[in-house]
Amino acid sequence: MVDTIAIASGKGGVGKTSLAVNCAVKLCLDKKRVALLDADFGLANAHIMLDQKVSASISDLLDGTGKIDKLIHDTPSGLKLIPGGSGVLELMNIDSKKRWEVIKSLDYIENEIDFLFVDTPAGASDSSVEFAAACDKIIIVLVGEPTSFMDAYAFIKALNFEKKVERVSIVVNMAKDAKDANNSFKSFQKIVSQFLDVELINLGWLPNSKLVAGSILTRKPFILNSNGDAQLNARLSEIVTNTERVQSFQTNSVRFFDK
Ligand SMILES: Nc1ncnc2c1ncn2[C@@H]1O[C@H](COP(=O)(O)OP(=O)(O)O)[C@@H](O)[C@H]1O
Ligand SMILES: [Mg+2]
Repeated sequence: MVDTIAIASGKGGVGKTSLAVNCAVKLCLDKKRVALLDADFGLANAHIMLDQKVSASISDLLDGTGKIDKLIHDTPSGLKLIPGGSGVLELMNIDSKKRWEVIKSLDYIENEIDFLFVDTPAGASDSSVEFAAACDKIIIVLVGEPTSFMDAYAFIKALNFEKKVERVSIVVNMAKDAKDANNSFKSFQKIVSQFLDVELINLGWLPNSKLVAGSILTRKPFILNSNGDAQLNARLSEIVTNTERVQSFQTNSVRFFDK
């Protein structure tokens, strides 16, 4: 069965896409079969981080001119990328029926993959909530700023109220060190537990590292960098291992692969 994992945040610019791409590539290095759906439709950029020229995108699927097999890009690490289309304004406001079509279309690769990562749009929009709840596991990327806490909280509240989600995982990004990351997790957990009956799982953290920004400029995931930062790579591995162990949550939502 495919393990499906959403990477979400609330606030934009916190490192969602970078985490999704590197976790997915890390699993490919571990000989797993992995796909990444860039569900940040209209503003998609996972293909840029993976240095992929994109000819077809999800808009071709939705207007009926293309089939999902034409959209799947095989990248050098083995990761299958399904790009979301960038600069396509009408893709930013697709309705629930179209989201369902996208979710169903992935059935085509069910037997070819072990993991599906879904990079969701920022904000607590219907689209980000539905795509996140359609996965088995939801990772929320948090940075140690009040605005990130507020937006992540709003997103978890929407997941809980609308989709009955009662378990989400947290990754603290751009932390100074383990202590700083742990403090951010604890403060956020305190806020959430005051108002919501949602279990938060601490998956780990990533340091603030120039190599992450550099990897985006060179369009090569940092986990593939042979002169990489051992600390950064070790923290990413820890996040991936912990993600595999997390249990799926219950929801009333439509899910990938008819689960
Ligand atoms: N751990 C990190 N250390 C330093 N910079 C980071 C880190 N994670 C992300 N960034 C930077 O933050 C910016 C936004 O990252 P991105 O993955 O596009 O975020 P999002 O998908 O949440 O909008 C990028 O410029 C990236 O280089
Ligand atoms: Mg992004």
